[in-house]
Amino acid sequence: MAVVLFTAAKGAPGVTTTAMLAASLWPRSAVLVDADPAGGDIGLRLPLADGRPVDMNRGLLTLLPLARRSLAAAALLDHSQRLLGGTDLIAGLAGPEQASAVGPLWNVLAGAFSDLPGHDVLIDAGNLHGSSVQFPLARSADLIVFVMRPRLADVIHTRSRLTALRSELVTGSSGNAPDFGVIVVAADREFREAESTFASLGEAAEGARFFGAVSRDKRGIDIFNGGTVHRPERTHIVRTGRVVVDALAQAIGIEAPAARGTAKPAARKTKRGKEQDRRAVEPVPTKAAPTDLMEVKPMPTDLMEKDTVMAPGTAKPADAAVPQLVSGAALPARPQHPPAAPAGQAASPMSRKELRKLGNDRSSKKGRS
Ligand SMILES: Nc1ncnc2c1ncn2[C@@H]1O[C@H](COP(=O)(O)OP(=O)(O)O)[C@@H](O)[C@H]1O
Ligand SMILES: [Mg+2]
Repeated sequence: MAVVLFTAAKGAPGVTTTAMLAASLWPRSAVLVDADPAGGDIGLRLPLADGRPVDMNRGLLTLLPLARRSLAAAALLDHSQRLLGGTDLIAGLAGPEQASAVGPLWNVLAGAFSDLPGHDVLIDAGNLHGSSVQFPLARSADLIVFVMRPRLADVIHTRSRLTALRSELVTGSSGNAPDFGVIVVAADREFREAESTFASLGEAAEGARFFGAVSRDKRGIDIFNGGTVHRPERTHIVRTGRVVVDALAQAIGIEAPAARGTAKPAARKTKRGKEQDRRAVEPVPTKAAPTDLMEVKPMPTDLMEKDTVMAPGTAKPADAAVPQLVSGAALPARPQHPPAAPAGQAASPMSRKELRKLGNDRSSKKGRS
């Protein structure tokens, strides 16, 4: 099935969070791979579904001895662990020393991810360039998604990284190159600038898709840090995440949410079936691009005022697609923290703050409901 790789040109715009968000909302079976050579941290952010901590030594590390011989794609799932919320994670390496020691085995891992049956593979690749150790993952990806913030520095760095990666992967390839796209992580006040940020990438993003913006959401981010969040499905990060995930899914040939359940299964965008998919998926045209971020106009519609935030060219997401993570059922407090306090009783400074915030949220809504 498809391999979608999330990366950033520089800094920490939210690649890991966006990959976790995408995995938690993904419309079909998927496995999330923590492949940031700087060191995996997804397993440190969320506990396992059964409340125990993630075993950080099981994942890429335990796959390496197999990769030295021959790694059957189906064996990948034996090394995954199910996180709170239902995401299957292949935990990452300890840091750059281990990541460099992997050497040519990155190629073997990349091949296994492409061949994994029955699951899409979502990869958090951290920062990536042509000589990055994990670069083979980019070679075998179907879609490479740059995550960026709406800042001049991110525009400049993403432009040059996109240009370099595309020339490395697309130029001279025999139709087997990955597609490219961009997600902007933007605070609510910056949300209107997300699309013009993408447009500011100019020629570098020609042919790349804009998958929309994910809200930089101070409250909702706790979902991905093992915290307790009231009505997670209503947070800006999840609502905007749904729209972005629908756009990503559409790009790799998963049917649009409106058609789910009625349409024939869409063509899958594996390397093998890519040409077929190209015909099946309408490209999203790139906007004419101003050359400087400072000159661009805000988007005409205030997306954050709408009930559901929409990315250009996407259908309204179906509520049926809400995963376990945001259903409210699977959100107990992280087990490493003290157990959740009974109503009205605080358990820790963090819980007190949370409870006070939730209390405020509720009382501020009382008058309205
Ligand atoms: N959508 C978001 N809303 C709120 N905070 C975010 C969001 N995305 C990232 N962050 C915060 O920004 C910081 C960097 O995020 P992270 O996902 O680790 O970035 P990266 O993987 O690019 O280094 C973290 O503190 C994270 O909590
Ligand atoms: Mg990261």
